[in-house]
Amino acid sequence: MKSLFYSRFFILLPWVLIVIIMIDIDTKRSSSSRSPAHPYFSRLGNSQRLDRAPHNGNNNYSSLPTIYAITPTYSRAVQKAELTRLANTFRQVPRFHWIVVEDSNMRTELVSRFLARSGVLYTHLHVLTPRRYKRAGLPRATEQRNAGLGWLRQHRSARDSGVVFFADDDNTYSLELFEEMRSTRKVSVWPVGLVGGRRYERPLVDRGRVVGWYTGWRADRPFAIDMAGFSVNIQVILANPKAVFKRRGSQPGMQESDFLKQITKVEELEPKAQNCTKVLVWHTRTEKVNLGNEPKHHQDSIHIEV
Ligand SMILES: *[C@@H]1O[C@H](CO)[C@@H](O)[C@H](O)[C@H]1NC(C)=O
Ligand SMILES: *[C@@H]1O[C@H](CO)[C@@H](O)[C@H](O)[C@H]1NC(C)=O
Repeated sequence: MKSLFYSRFFILLPWVLIVIIMIDIDTKRSSSSRSPAHPYFSRLGNSQRLDRAPHNGNNNYSSLPTIYAITPTYSRAVQKAELTRLANTFRQVPRFHWIVVEDSNMRTELVSRFLARSGVLYTHLHVLTPRRYKRAGLPRATEQRNAGLGWLRQHRSARDSGVVFFADDDNTYSLELFEEMRSTRKVSVWPVGLVGGRRYERPLVDRGRVVGWYTGWRADRPFAIDMAGFSVNIQVILANPKAVFKRRGSQPGMQESDFLKQITKVEELEPKAQNCTKVLVWHTRTEKVNLGNEPKHHQDSIHIEV
């Protein structure tokens, strides 16, 4: 008799738990404002976002400024691995909109499939870099970043609150970084790890103002900062419709500085990450993969996306 009771109990227990979890997720879902494309992951995504609510007891994110991360990407062996690392972070950031811009003359299947399942709200764009610009020593991803800015200028207006960030796919981002940048009024700056031939680079801050740059390379640049080291309020992007990343006259490594010159002044920069004393983003870069043993002709009996 007792054993019968126990066996019924243990059969029923998992079902009761599943029902409780479903009800819980549905309640949270109805309070969230936007959902990504894929139904399963959107549930997962939203419930994770809401569970990890920073500074917000009632889980109401609709008043937070959206973070728009513009990520240029191109086809290569490590592409999906890099995008996976980014998505695993971005999925946990509340009010996040990922603008992925492929260097391609069309949306590739790999990236389309990846984004649809990513659990992140996204916009998928593409623009092919003209061949003449694909040379060593020339700045990269210029057209893709500008396409992201162009999309924002077309689809966002003075009513929208948000912060724009250039999230290259070879970096590693801490969740804390996004909460730091979210309060950007015009342009925010912070340190970047593992960049410029140093352990880190950072804006030098005195009494809450940026007064110079700790960098291993061309400290004479007006804004001696990496792409991952700043964010811009979307209203600044909209108010300066001509501000873009330039090819003409821009030397390699000057992209960030040339762009920021068009929209702000050093004195106006808002230092984040405890007055620029904490590293919350790293220019990790993936080691070049060894494909030396890859067969010349397809040998496996199946095709696998990597
Ligand atoms: C969330 O906050 C916004 C603005 O503060 C408010 O208009 C909205 O009703 C709130 N939504 C919920 C579900 O509490
Ligand atoms: C940054 O420095 C300013 C001026 O010294 C100070 O008032 C402020 O509290 C500091 N901010 C943080 C987050 O440490």
